[in-house]
Amino acid sequence: MTARIIDGKSYAENLRTRIAGHVARLKAEHGITPGLAVVIVGHDPASEIYVSSKAKQTAEVGMVSFKYELPEDTSEAELLELVRRLNNDDQVHGILVQMPVPKQIDPVKVIEAIAPSKDVDCFTPANVGKVQIGLPGPVSCTPLGCLMLLRDQLGSLAGLHAVIVGRSNLVGKPMMQLLLRENCTITVAHSKTRDLADVVRRADIVVAAVGRPEMIKGDWIKPGATVLDVGVNRIPAPERGEGKTRLVGDVAFAEAKEIAGAISPVPGGVGPMTIACLLANTITTASLING
Ligand code: GUN
Repeated sequence: MTARIIDGKSYAENLRTRIAGHVARLKAEHGITPGLAVVIVGHDPASEIYVSSKAKQTAEVGMVSFKYELPEDTSEAELLELVRRLNNDDQVHGILVQMPVPKQIDPVKVIEAIAPSKDVDCFTPANVGKVQIGLPGPVSCTPLGCLMLLRDQLGSLAGLHAVIVGRSNLVGKPMMQLLLRENCTITVAHSKTRDLADVVRRADIVVAAVGRPEMIKGDWIKPGATVLDVGVNRIPAPERGEGKTRLVGDVAFAEAKEIAGAISPVPGGVGPMTIACLLANTITTASLING
């Protein structure tokens, strides 16, 4: 049996339509226009594409988009000064500094400078702690997008065994918190995990976030399992012509789709959910800031 393909692109489009409705109501009923400031330092091509998409989609749902493009040689002090200015700007309800930042800047200092009330990435220690104890506030964007897709596919997640492959602060750890809240049984696997294939074979839900192209093979998947692929890896594609590349996830999609119950593709699966959830977090912070 072939798996259902989880269409994150269309789910995200639908979510953005609902967000646009929220924005319109915040404007009409409370006089608030949510504003999102996105800061990029330097010219990393992948980051530039992400930041442009974020700014475009922010404007499309009716929010105000503030985009700051700083030169590669920006000092840490200059970036921290901008963050402080945005913290104090009433028109700004969300602040995102695109990572990675150039090497002269300490990313931890940048994250700690962002006011938790405007931290739409959910990177600050205060917001990470709130997620852990279940208090309202922004939630890490990619894990939140994964959770929405899982709920849409499976309804209640209670009692299911979720195996998260990858333990990053950006995806693995917050994913663990969110799925624990849903009453899943969680295993977090990583580069030192022994017999990874056997661990993954026990999963009702697999969240793959290791950043290794097609590492998770089809015969690692339990028949009928739900597989979310967070990986975005660019690999050579000589079949498309000399020097060409293509995007693949962390899961060997062609094999896994023959065994899984449902699986997200790359591209078009989890990726589009991340920006939509960033916008959802901006609604959350705008609403909380304005009581
Ligand atoms: N770089 C890659 N993903 C992200 C993200 O979700 N937020 C920020 N700030 N930087 C990133």
